[in-house]
Amino acid sequence: MDEKEIPENLHREDDEETMNLISSLPSCVDFEGTKLCKYQGCWYDSKTMQGILNFQRGFEPQDTDIVIASFPKSGTTWLKALTVALLERSKHSSSDDHPLLLDNPHGLVPFLELIFETSKPDMTNISSSPRLFSTHVAFQTLREALKNSPCKIVYVWRNVKDVLVSFWYFKCAILKIKEEGSMLESLFESFCGGVINHGPFWEHVLSYWKGSLEDPKNVLFLKYEELKTDPNVQLKKLAEFLGCPFTVEEEESGSVEEILDLCLLRNLKNLEINKTGKTARGSDHKTFFRKGEVGDSKNYLTPEMEKRIDMIVEEKFRGSDIKF
Ligand code: A3P
Repeated sequence: MDEKEIPENLHREDDEETMNLISSLPSCVDFEGTKLCKYQGCWYDSKTMQGILNFQRGFEPQDTDIVIASFPKSGTTWLKALTVALLERSKHSSSDDHPLLLDNPHGLVPFLELIFETSKPDMTNISSSPRLFSTHVAFQTLREALKNSPCKIVYVWRNVKDVLVSFWYFKCAILKIKEEGSMLESLFESFCGGVINHGPFWEHVLSYWKGSLEDPKNVLFLKYEELKTDPNVQLKKLAEFLGCPFTVEEEESGSVEEILDLCLLRNLKNLEINKTGKTARGSDHKTFFRKGEVGDSKNYLTPEMEKRIDMIVEEKFRGSDIKF
């Protein structure tokens, strides 16, 4: 790794170990020319890697912590909103100071690997119990950071083709460029080869699928498409898993529907905070809300692209009960 590729903040002596480890990892270049390193089975850019290593070393989990995990563009924002609304339901039913009206779900549920981009982050402002965090790292990497703490992990996964198209749109929105086919094609190649930040997609999904089979009490595996078709059932499943099931009275008074309505894409998208705000890293909140449609990728991928990805998926998920 040459000087230019060493992430900022990595020049202090305590970080020498991190620097040496990152430079010793297998590396390659993704569709944008960004150097990625392979760590515990997945590829990460060097800034994310720095965050991961600090997170694994320095995080002090609490048994009540909840971690929302996902591959990017799989429904993270929605799951964060649902979880916040679920946990806050007794405090904020239909009032103006609901956290979701005041901040974007990513501001309310921070990414652990981003918090730990600095080696000694200040965690004192994260005081609510349970603490809510998120991550895009693979299961084995998260587990190591959580040590043996029985934190609850909720993973959301989504059809890979819709993830790919959503990622393409997001990337173009962040770069403020028009969506062009050539970018989709190179992204597609990176995706198929697994060489993408946090990828390969299949390794990521399979890691949490296995985790949920081994430890169903602490790892919940949710599917975006099922959240769309059966939101009521899925939200109740989430509530049970997190130890805050809906009471009969709550169900009768429409509490489930209230949360689902609050977290509807069109509702969140139209909130002032999400129309105008920005994340701590400067991304517009509005880039996290697009169409949220199942199968939208059909409008962008060629039949050849679909066929190729179907074949990869068929091979990679053979032997699992994961169905796309
Ligand atoms: P599309 O680009 O297909 O519309 P992530 O939150 O992991 O970054 O994923 C973003 C995807 O989730 C985008 O998909 C976005 O529109 C969709 N999304 C965001 N909020 C949603 C919500 N409340 N309900 C359903 N989908 C949502």
